[in-house]
Amino acid sequence: MPIPTIHVGCTHFAHGRLQAQINSNGLEPVACVDINLEAARKGVASLEGDIPEYLSERIYTTITEAKEKHDAHACLIYASTTVHAKLIVESLNLGMHTLCVKPIATTQAEFHDIIQAHKANPGLMLVQGQNKRWNPAAAKMREWLREKGGIGEMLAGECRFWIRQNLYTGPNPGIEESIKSPDSRQPDAYVDGLFFHAGTSHQLDQLVAAKGLPKYVTAHIHNRRDPELGQIEAWGTAGGNALMEYANGAPFSYAGTRAGHANSFGWSGNWTFHGENGDIRRDAGHLQLFRLGKTVENLSLQDLHAGLIEDDRLQFDAFAQAVANGTDRDWMQETTLGTWVLMEACNESARTHERVDVEAFAAKMLK
Ligand SMILES: NC(=O)c1ccc[n+]([C@@H]2O[C@H](COP(=O)([O-])OP(=O)(O)OC[C@H]3O[C@@H](n4cnc5c(N)ncnc54)[C@H](O)[C@@H]3O)[C@@H](O)[C@H]2O)c1
Repeated sequence: MPIPTIHVGCTHFAHGRLQAQINSNGLEPVACVDINLEAARKGVASLEGDIPEYLSERIYTTITEAKEKHDAHACLIYASTTVHAKLIVESLNLGMHTLCVKPIATTQAEFHDIIQAHKANPGLMLVQGQNKRWNPAAAKMREWLREKGGIGEMLAGECRFWIRQNLYTGPNPGIEESIKSPDSRQPDAYVDGLFFHAGTSHQLDQLVAAKGLPKYVTAHIHNRRDPELGQIEAWGTAGGNALMEYANGAPFSYAGTRAGHANSFGWSGNWTFHGENGDIRRDAGHLQLFRLGKTVENLSLQDLHAGLIEDDRLQFDAFAQAVANGTDRDWMQETTLGTWVLMEACNESARTHERVDVEAFAAKMLK
């Protein structure tokens, strides 16, 4: 039986996630929520596939109203970034398992509110949505990092991420207008610290999913301003570097920018790992495993799907399995929340110019 689910956010990127929920096997949308009812109705009308007939009649402006009218056990949150934390708290307090797209919070105070709401409802699953760990290429990299037949103990690694991302949601209105009306840009352009939370989290979530949290991190942000991309005044939006240290002493270095001058490595990044029993190279969907001078495997696998709808379909079905049967439930919850903690530890290090003890920081954040 699919899990009856409320879907929050019906336009833009969120619309594709509603389509992914329709495409999923494990979730059934019983109602939608969006503050823009007219746009949401158009969004629901343009869905494809096996759409429940009732859905166009069940669009509400709040999660509370949707839950009062329909029996839902789970809630997917794809509204604008700046409202994530309050919607998660609302959903948890209404008794629903909750998955909200990254970043679930933009400040430590918001994260604290979420954790308190989760502690008050400990039986509910809480997941930060991270759609890039689910495709076959990411799953294969994780297998080589964790399972027998891979590289064994990780000794060192690196990831590079490099794209050119326009943060304007419409035509570029020019720098003066942008400053006066920041709504013409993604929140990433005017909320501080979102490079690590929104850019880096796509790559390092894959590391956390495989190897857990490092013991320490030292990070820096890039100071680049690019008015053409809408990157004008926010702190920590253009890019960042981080050096992580794992408990066994393995260093992992990260360098990323979304204000690059070209599109190079894309959202998946470009990876190298050195291990006790082998090395990995990955460039998007091209993965190679080497051992003792020989290429053991050389694979081209599906990386990110067009529109990321299939990536999210995979994520939603994993979420449904975790809720229904407990399959990988702790791993999914702990590692995705762990990714938020690690990204915030990067911001903390970049702000203070100090090396952050990630274990101690996580204990403070999750208290
Ligand atoms: N994981 C990824 O790959 C990825 C890619 C793009 C965007 N995102 C994230 O997905 C989220 C949604 O992106 P988007 O471009 O669709 O954003 P958006 O700002 O267009 O918002 C989506 C919808 O949410 C609605 N909304 C806003 N506030 C609301 C509220 N309080 N209650 C209910 N509905 C509300 C809006 O009316 C809109 O229809 C953002 O947080 C964005 O950062 C993730």
